[in-house]
Amino acid sequence: MHVVFSCMHLFYTKIFLMAKLKKAFFCNECGAEFPKWIGKCPACGQWNTLQEEIISKPSATVASGVEKSVHKAKKLEDIEAESTLRYDTSNTEFNRVLGGGLVPGSVCLLGGEPGIGKSTLLLQLAMQMQGHTILYVSGEESEQQVKMRASRLQLQSQDCYFLSETNLENIFAEIKQVQPKILILDSIQTMQSQLLDSAAGSVSQIKHCAAAFQDFAKEQQVSVFLIGHITKDGSLAGPKVLEHMVDTVLHFEGDRNYGYRLLRTMKNRFGSTSELGIFEMSQTGLREVSNPSEILLSQRHEQLNGIAIAASLEGMRPMLIEIQALVSSAVYGVPQRSTTGYDARRLNMLLAVLEKRSGFRLSSKDVFLNIAGGIQVKDPAIDLAVVCAILSSNHDLPIYHKLCFAAEVGLSGEIRPVNQIEQRVAEAEKLGFEYIIISKHNNKNLHTKTIKVLEVSKIEEVTRMVFKALQV
Ligand code: TYD
Ligand code: MG
Repeated sequence: MHVVFSCMHLFYTKIFLMAKLKKAFFCNECGAEFPKWIGKCPACGQWNTLQEEIISKPSATVASGVEKSVHKAKKLEDIEAESTLRYDTSNTEFNRVLGGGLVPGSVCLLGGEPGIGKSTLLLQLAMQMQGHTILYVSGEESEQQVKMRASRLQLQSQDCYFLSETNLENIFAEIKQVQPKILILDSIQTMQSQLLDSAAGSVSQIKHCAAAFQDFAKEQQVSVFLIGHITKDGSLAGPKVLEHMVDTVLHFEGDRNYGYRLLRTMKNRFGSTSELGIFEMSQTGLREVSNPSEILLSQRHEQLNGIAIAASLEGMRPMLIEIQALVSSAVYGVPQRSTTGYDARRLNMLLAVLEKRSGFRLSSKDVFLNIAGGIQVKDPAIDLAVVCAILSSNHDLPIYHKLCFAAEVGLSGEIRPVNQIEQRVAEAEKLGFEYIIISKHNNKNLHTKTIKVLEVSKIEEVTRMVFKALQV
């Protein structure tokens, strides 16, 4: 009898332990859950993405503090449109990126490298927005640290509350008290629900916490901002489902050595994804930059070799950028090619085109290329400016400083048309440029007043124009 009892006891202990330490495997990419490890995730097809995590399933009745109402199906016609309502964030650049303002009940994920200014941006937003109760929850900084930052920003707000907490249930308890209209969580990777045993930042915790805030936002019509860490390769840390769940995904990026920060929309359910916001990090926080071309063009008083201006487009925003090239004879056997802010393979391609199609001897030269202002440009429309900057440095001939370029260069040395040419020309005209060189095949109906549009089809025509006719 005694033996039977102890066996039973052992059995229950084992059952209890099993119930307590339930384990599962989660895919890092898509967040799918599996009972055992598999090399390839059957849900998304990625290899080696499954990770073991200890979980204990929350029972159906224990919710995350959000009371869910039961929804009934309605005719789409009968649903009242509230989409016109948007909060003004008091920040033109942020409003633009969000598609015209903050939508009540939306969830926005803001990702970016450590130290780029995510916390600063959202704290500034929280303190600038007037008339709405805002709760800023930080799992990374203490009250004192945030207070110090707020005084550095030199802003004051009566409606902004702060909470230093990582426990999801405690956060919801505070939310009930404060009743915010806007909620900021810094960061989603530090939040942890006590219903799950896994560590903060694990796939199951991130999924659970994000889902809780998503439900809360939709139920209570509160706008939620989630700050997200990013991984080494630049994608948002945690499962891809996180990006699917939220309404808007923003990326905050920039070169840490320069003050400029770009806020890009990667996904937006309430607006276009081609918007771009530009900020400058200063001693007193982030300053809006409404005219990007002014900061990206260095103030030149004298004519320098190796500089060409390109009319580029970032998202839908036209901006003029300065391309700087330095060509010198190679000291070592293998010539160096180095770029900052520009694709090195594209540079190699353009050098090959110049060598093969136009007969410039560049194969034994070192070529260095730099985009001023520390920004990364992928727009192919800056090709022609890159080519001209290289030739200008190579021949020691400056380019007229009121001349800019907007064209792509093809493999056979042809000058190819680019999109949104009207916007590019208009921006160059606005900034006082006198000439712009574009492709012959671009739209011909350009209405310009002060700027002269020069159309070309081959590199030779460009070099003749730039280094002879317009040479000053
Ligand atoms: P932070 O906003 O904490 O970045 P993240 O939350 O993305 O990790 O920090 C941004 C950096 O900006 C920090 O290194 C200090 C700097 N900074 C300024 O230059 N000026 C300022 O007014 C503030 C508040 C920060
Ligand atoms: Mg931070």
